[in-house]
Amino acid sequence: MPARLVVLVSGSGTNLQALLDAAADPGYGAEVVAVGADRPGIEGLARAERAGVPTFVLRVADCESRAAWDAELSRLVAEHEPDLVVLAGFMKLVGESFLARHGGRVVNTHPALSPSFPGMHGPADALAYGVKVTGATLFVVDAGVDTGQIVAQTTVPVEDDDDVDTLHERIKVAERTMLVESVGRMAREGFTVDGRRVRLGR
Ligand code: GRF
Repeated sequence: MPARLVVLVSGSGTNLQALLDAAADPGYGAEVVAVGADRPGIEGLARAERAGVPTFVLRVADCESRAAWDAELSRLVAEHEPDLVVLAGFMKLVGESFLARHGGRVVNTHPALSPSFPGMHGPADALAYGVKVTGATLFVVDAGVDTGQIVAQTTVPVEDDDDVDTLHERIKVAERTMLVESVGRMAREGFTVDGRRVRLGR
């Protein structure tokens, strides 16, 4: 049985597309069973619809509070009985209810090399700092901002003439490869978390 992935998106969904493409091969060991978003009308949802994958949308603005949104999101995700929840460009922090229900099997991808440059502006912050190498980090989500245990990292050079867009695009190419490889291995081989350290395999 392939592992069941629920993927949450907020934008263009190129990471989601990479997972959908990989999962088309039965040997990948995982299938995307649902895609959720915190806003309607985004390309990430259109990608899911084109692939015939069920979608759901839950806006914070449509809930009584942020906590109510988090609890309802967690319920919507649980309906699809995921083995792994992948936050792929999902621009919201999940909260207490979500982590109580799904914690330990939620991963997120961040476009910087943790623990450097957490938060919403990883590529811009790396560029402004002047680092010569940056990249992306896949991590197990905890209550912090991009602080969870690291599953995988990938690096790219920062070029002299980069702006935020060219740098983020270079990161995203490497990020998609890392995401597909790591999620596939997590699905096929399982993983264990021991303190800060994540090991793939049983
Ligand atoms: C990725 O770089 C992700 O790490 C960041 O936003 C980007 C999302 O890209 N948070 P996409 O929606 O998967 O194309």
